Amino acid sequence: MDVTKTYSLENGDFTALNHVSLDIIENDFVAIMGSSGSGKSTMMNQEEILDVPTMGNLYIEGRNVAKMTELERSHLRCDTIGYIFQKLSPIPLQSAYENVEYPLILKNKTHDATRNADRLPF
Ligand SMILES: Nc1ncnc2c1ncn2[C@@H]1O[C@H](COP(=O)(O)OP(=O)(O)O)[C@@H](O)[C@H]1O
Ligand SMILES: [Mg+2]
Repeated sequence: MDVTKTYSLENGDFTALNHVSLDIIENDFVAIMGSSGSGKSTMMNQEEILDVPTMGNLYIEGRNVAKMTELERSHLRCDTIGYIFQKLSPIPLQSAYENVEYPLILKNKTHDATRNADRLPF
């Protein structure tokens, strides 16, 4: 990864990430720490494929996110990334099971597959 992210503001550009390089390999446990405004959320938005770099490349499972279409990024996000939010994450009218099941239904997984926790894709 070698990522630069510049936000365009009314009074000029602001570079929040300037050639940031980071490798995270399978089974790594990584914490991103820094003071408020240092770019943690901007960085996470790149890692989660919610945003794309202004410049540079970001590889997830060997594929360069920066060169993908929005639809390709959506599929990669759906297949490879799981989120645990601090708050506001579960759909409140659904059970815990239904909350887990919901994205799998969107991915056309069979109902039986969702019952086997070992086979959950996240
Ligand atoms: N959408 C945006 N538009 C313009 N500037 C932004 C935007 N998001 C973040 N920034 C700026 O980028 C810098 C990094 O912000 P952010 O990634 O939210 O930091 P952190 O999560 O570490 O607090 C801050 O100066 C912030 O004001
Ligand atoms: Mg933040």
